[in-house]
Amino acid sequence: MTPRHFLTTEDWSRQELQALLDRARAFKQGADSSRPMQGKSIALLFFNPSLRTRTSFELGAFQMGGHAVVLQPGKDAWPMEFELGTVMDGEPEEHVKEAAQVLSRYCDLIAVRAFPKFQDWEQDRQDKMLAAFARYATVPVINMETIIHPCQELALMMNLQDRLGQPDKQKFVLTWTWHPRPLNTAVANSALLIATKFGMDVTLLCPSPEYVLDQRFMQAGQANAERHGGSLRVSHDIEEAYKDARFVYAKSWGALPYFGRWDEELPMRQASRHFMVDGPKMALTDDGLFSHCLPLRRNVKATDEVMDADYCVAIDEAENRLHVQKAVMATLLENSN
Ligand code: CP
Repeated sequence: MTPRHFLTTEDWSRQELQALLDRARAFKQGADSSRPMQGKSIALLFFNPSLRTRTSFELGAFQMGGHAVVLQPGKDAWPMEFELGTVMDGEPEEHVKEAAQVLSRYCDLIAVRAFPKFQDWEQDRQDKMLAAFARYATVPVINMETIIHPCQELALMMNLQDRLGQPDKQKFVLTWTWHPRPLNTAVANSALLIATKFGMDVTLLCPSPEYVLDQRFMQAGQANAERHGGSLRVSHDIEEAYKDARFVYAKSWGALPYFGRWDEELPMRQASRHFMVDGPKMALTDDGLFSHCLPLRRNVKATDEVMDADYCVAIDEAENRLHVQKAVMATLLENSN
């Protein structure tokens, strides 16, 4: 039996994820025009901004005959508390315990985007808002990006399979890139999880050990690699990492040991601007493809040359978000009946 929620791909077997990808491919190719959300609805809770996630979820629900309600707590919905036992005498007006139950009475699915607060990684890594929704909702819950981004993972893997065929043993490089702000590690964690789950040879390229991802995800990636016949290693050597890569995936993130002390981290990040993806680096690959989850700052994370090259498949990945999320919504609804 597949899991009740779609919170992390760690809860789903490779076979179950492949079933989602196959269903997404049928949507993409027009082979499946069914309307499994007819008369159903989804609440989309955005604690943070979005272009792709919001648009693709709203349209995905519409295309399958359903309806999406978008709520932005703190903007057009009440600010929300997620800690238990808190004296709520601050900003939050509503507790997730009630919100999750109330939305479950109205809607058939709930999806949540709640980024870290970027002050205390020990707190943020517990992903409390998402966990609270999963605990108190009586309908399936979907992660629209918290400390991981599992919908992006599916879109990425669909792209990899469409372009490279069987991903097993192909060289996948997850490269850190410079950004003026210390961004979320979610997409990097996720890229590592999905690439290892599908047996790829994964290289995590970053400027120094401080930029290695949380041990929880490194260990999960290592376990995936052992189970699915791939590998996971860390490199700080740009040329060696890019050499013979079949797929380069870029993302910026802040160094976890400096979490909440970003002024101290800034000089280290600024010293690594040369990690930007450019033509000469891509020339080291084995006819490699490039992608990014988007949004992407041009000529900061990747050059115009890379973004405009035929080998850049970021727009395809963004399109895939629509198809994979339709597969997730349809599958969770069927499982909850
Ligand atoms: N990749 C992604 O999640 O895009 P948005 O932040 O625009 O939703």
